[in-house]
Amino acid sequence: MSLVNNQRPLQPEYIPGSITDRESERKALKQALDTVHLPDVLLHGPRGTGKTLLTRQLITQLEDDIQHHYINCIHHNTEHKALRKLHTSITGENTPQGFHTSKLQRKIEKQLKHTRHLIVLDEADFLLQNNGNSLLYYLSRINKPSNLGTIIVSAHTASLQSQIDERTHSTLQPQRIGTEPYTSEQVYQILSQRARQSLEPTSLHHEALTYLASATQNTKLGLHWLRHTAQNTDQPITEQTLKQTQKQAHHHFTERTLSYHTDHHRTLYKAIRDFDDYPVNSGQTYTKYREHCRKQNLEPLSNRRISDYIQHLKLHGLIETKAHHGGKHGKTKEIQPTSLLQ
Ligand SMILES: Nc1ncnc2c1ncn2[C@@H]1O[C@H](COP(=O)(O)OP(=O)(O)OP(=O)(O)O)[C@@H](O)[C@H]1O
Ligand SMILES: [Mg+2]
Repeated sequence: MSLVNNQRPLQPEYIPGSITDRESERKALKQALDTVHLPDVLLHGPRGTGKTLLTRQLITQLEDDIQHHYINCIHHNTEHKALRKLHTSITGENTPQGFHTSKLQRKIEKQLKHTRHLIVLDEADFLLQNNGNSLLYYLSRINKPSNLGTIIVSAHTASLQSQIDERTHSTLQPQRIGTEPYTSEQVYQILSQRARQSLEPTSLHHEALTYLASATQNTKLGLHWLRHTAQNTDQPITEQTLKQTQKQAHHHFTERTLSYHTDHHRTLYKAIRDFDDYPVNSGQTYTKYREHCRKQNLEPLSNRRISDYIQHLKLHGLIETKAHHGGKHGKTKEIQPTSLLQ
């Protein structure tokens, strides 16, 4: 017999009936949008602190005359891809592959005139890292102040000033709203609410949830760990059960995170995990990555591409890197996997 009555509340995309302790951030977002000219907002905070939830809740409550467009920049990580997605979202039609960026820009501008639009750029760091600020520059230039607002969501930067050029920044002047890391008590509350909605009563021990909430501040990881455990046992979940499932649940969590990327990202991450001692440098990482490619019959990518992929793993919080200058290899990076637990 399974412990799970209802799978949905354990999914990360699920929007719970009530949001725990994010009232001031919710109000700040709502207030920002209560203006004739929609604003530009930078919503920032560490991973698993409710940024996407706040944004998704907000867009379900927009006034009728505001059209919203949600763009996940992990998938749409160039100006062209993001504009295609935006064009499709505005027109409701598939955008032909062959459209050039400037053609897309012209078509979008025409459409934007008619009504107010709010664009959410979730995981914006992936776009900025990959493609610089060309999309933000374009958005900042079209007819401002305008019918157009943006919510730029970032897990990495509390200020866009160092990420985008000065002209773009001074036109956007994004209002900053931050989400602080949750305390263990808040993580406990969030997870227990979801557990009540999805699990058989009495199937999760209080001390197990206390352990889970003290082990991670990232509610997305906590939820994943709980779901993984509940799906793999038919006995009530204790602290001991969670300790037993910890390694595998984390492994699945990173696999799920990397499932949005290429085989090479996964091979690279495996290679980085394959050292005995850390930190390792970029050169050692490239060599190990090529070894893993050979074993998997994959044609290795250039060091330059892999260097970008190292950045992607970093943006996901799976590894930490530190620039290292000097030494016989000149400029290099020190790399180590992140411990996802506290
Ligand atoms: N205050 C809260 N109340 C209820 N549920 C929450 C709250 N904060 C987060 N959650 C839940 O935790 C999970 C992670 O939240 P969310 O995806 O919004 O985090 P995030 O800050 O966008 O993380 P990331 O930077 O990794 O994308 C979601 O399932 C969300 O519903
Ligand atoms: Mg998010």
